[in-house]
Amino acid sequence: MKSKLIIAIDGPVGSGKSTVARRVAELLGYTHLDSGAMYRAIGWKALCEKIPLDSPDALAALAGRVRIDLVWRDGKQHVILDGEDITNWIRTTEVSHAASVVAVIPGVRHPLVAEQRRAGEQGGVVMEGRDIGSVVFPHADLKIYLDASPEVRARRRWQELSEKGEASDPLLVLADVRARDQRDRERKMSPLVRAADAVVVDNSAMDAEETARVIVMLAGERAKGKAVTGD
Ligand code: DC
Repeated sequence: MKSKLIIAIDGPVGSGKSTVARRVAELLGYTHLDSGAMYRAIGWKALCEKIPLDSPDALAALAGRVRIDLVWRDGKQHVILDGEDITNWIRTTEVSHAASVVAVIPGVRHPLVAEQRRAGEQGGVVMEGRDIGSVVFPHADLKIYLDASPEVRARRRWQELSEKGEASDPLLVLADVRARDQRDRERKMSPLVRAADAVVVDNSAMDAEETARVIVMLAGERAKGKAVTGD
């Protein structure tokens, strides 16, 4: 019996996935894996190597030749690309944009999804992204679709940028959130969708701690169900 669960948390930008997934993992003693960091790593490398973002073949070749490791160290996920720790370089607006462009390319997604499956297959993991419950782990023990209104998500994103000293116009942040939603939802491969068996958690009016505790409660119920069925 696999006693530790695979928990998939999907949702759009600004839904609080990262903070919530990190906290859920902490409360359960699980590992937290942020799959978006892998798309960001490819976006970052493409910018560094000046690979045009409208060259799917060159970007797929890049994803095929680099090695990305998500390493859990000191209670935090580190992103290692070909041996270099790039954790601190992949959260800029420029990299966010590049990540959302490379993420629509099937040849980029294939190797990254394979690595995500390898990293989570043992269980005891909270993996967040856009397609974790639908594609990466369709048999995850618990699937959460985290959501909040676009306005609430844009406000969170704006605050995050302000805290990093990146001043931005709130209306432009809202427009960017909507544009990224559209790209994530309308791409052909692995679009952001709610898996049919996912539990929807709308946290427009909840903070990260409350949201995490709701998910931990659901995980407790799933774990009990597994113990009873011996799954
Ligand atoms: O969650 P994030 O903002 O760090 O993700 C960066 C980009 O990668 C975002 O445009 C969505 C995309 N992504 C994806 O397509 N599939 C995932 N499993 C995770 C992220």
